[in-house]
Amino acid sequence: MEKYDLIIIGGGPGGYEAAIEAAKAYGNKVAIIEKDRLGGTCLNRGCIPTKTLLHTADTLAHVMRHGEEMGLTGTGALDYDMAMLQGHKTAVVDQLTNGVAGLMKSNKVTVYNGMGAIQDAHHVVVKQSDSAEDITLEAQHILIATGSYPAVPPIPGADLPGVMTSDDMLDQAEPLEELVIIGGGVIGMEFAELYSALGTKVTVIEALDRILANMDKELSRSLAMVAKKSKGIDIHTSAMVKEIKEEGGKLSVIYEEKEKSNSVAADKVLLSVGRRANTAGLFEETASDIAAQILTERGLVAVDENYETAADGIYAIGDVIGGIQLAHVATAEGRTAVANMNGGRSAIRMDIVPSCIYTSPEIAGVGMTEAEAKDQAIEVITKKYPMGANGRTLISMEERSFIKLVAEKESHKLLGAQMMCARATDMIAQFAQAIANGLTLEDMAKVIYPHPTYSEGIGELVR
Ligand code: NAI
Repeated sequence: MEKYDLIIIGGGPGGYEAAIEAAKAYGNKVAIIEKDRLGGTCLNRGCIPTKTLLHTADTLAHVMRHGEEMGLTGTGALDYDMAMLQGHKTAVVDQLTNGVAGLMKSNKVTVYNGMGAIQDAHHVVVKQSDSAEDITLEAQHILIATGSYPAVPPIPGADLPGVMTSDDMLDQAEPLEELVIIGGGVIGMEFAELYSALGTKVTVIEALDRILANMDKELSRSLAMVAKKSKGIDIHTSAMVKEIKEEGGKLSVIYEEKEKSNSVAADKVLLSVGRRANTAGLFEETASDIAAQILTERGLVAVDENYETAADGIYAIGDVIGGIQLAHVATAEGRTAVANMNGGRSAIRMDIVPSCIYTSPEIAGVGMTEAEAKDQAIEVITKKYPMGANGRTLISMEERSFIKLVAEKESHKLLGAQMMCARATDMIAQFAQAIANGLTLEDMAKVIYPHPTYSEGIGELVR
């Protein structure tokens, strides 16, 4: 039987980065088990394919909207080819997944292609994808990094053909005339952006009273405004979907808003109402006691602050443990779990995880919002810079955008920042860096912000 220091189940950004860390930093002998392609949701069905499609769609929409004003001609007749868009997406995904395979090789991590099932605290069975023969592996530590899958809500008609999750939508082969999106969270708003930029009439139906309910209120209000006014996206909040029906070759989504029943027709319906932990088939019958010990009622794997479960030697990270379900969080958790199982004591600042949404303009946030600081009775000052006055924003003809920050009143220590502007997803790391290192606004003002850049907005704000 092959013996390892660490067996990782799941080859997403949580699992594969943990494998590299364990091999490189600690000299561990590592095996990684993946039933599909290396890269997980992020590379194959999430971050990378969606952002590739979004980049193309937003480039098209931007040129069509502003091209003539910028001096380009013929932009009104610009068009797209769905097969070519998909081809570009596949090429990017392939390059990155092949890159991960190369990294496994160069770090001497053994990759097993199949389903991994825990037999006991030190043994995992691999049900191989390309062979009927099972392999049993032994290890000192096991890391569960199996990720999540899109939730399907219990709405009548949710199983009709044409009602899709983000997994299916990513392979959409034809342009769509009408799309209804159920759930105005991150996935919902990014797909609304993507398809509206491709000319689809998009309707978003959100149960709560605002889209992006986890973000700062001004960000969700401003995005809703830009989505409605500039992109023609129809957004219904405090609206409950009651049923999806097939009617005259279309899907009809029936929903209740302000106690009134309404309906909207579409070619396709996207369900984007959150994600569930992937634990099906993860435990052999011999490990049912372990399953009972570490699974929560909601089907998540429960861990302590070291990412260790109640079963000695078994760790878990990423979407399967719940919390903030983001690729960069899974990666950080994986590296932390590896450090801890190798005798270290490492922790992550979960209060300063940057969130990034790839709409146009982009949205990003880190640390506290003003409302959160008030809830914690912290006296703060807030500052806001409208990016309409920023040269680079004028050059590229971006939409209404701004940067805000929250700092401690007395010390001027930065507590949080929220941005809605071009390159917000790149610039947010500056604020994260500042909060992590306890910088004040005066500290942030010590550097020269290059001109002309979007980052000058940050310079204006902290001075
Ligand atoms: P989400 O939790 O962000 O949003 C789901 C939304 O659906 C919520 O606003 C909720 O109120 C609403 N909802 C739930 N049931 C509903 C119903 N029956 N009718 C109408 N609305 C309903 O989940 P989402 O968007 O599916 O994303 C899943 C995860 O993936 C999140 O943790 C997200 O952070 C992550 N993700 C992150 C991205 C990024 O960082 N750019 C991109 C895509 C996903």
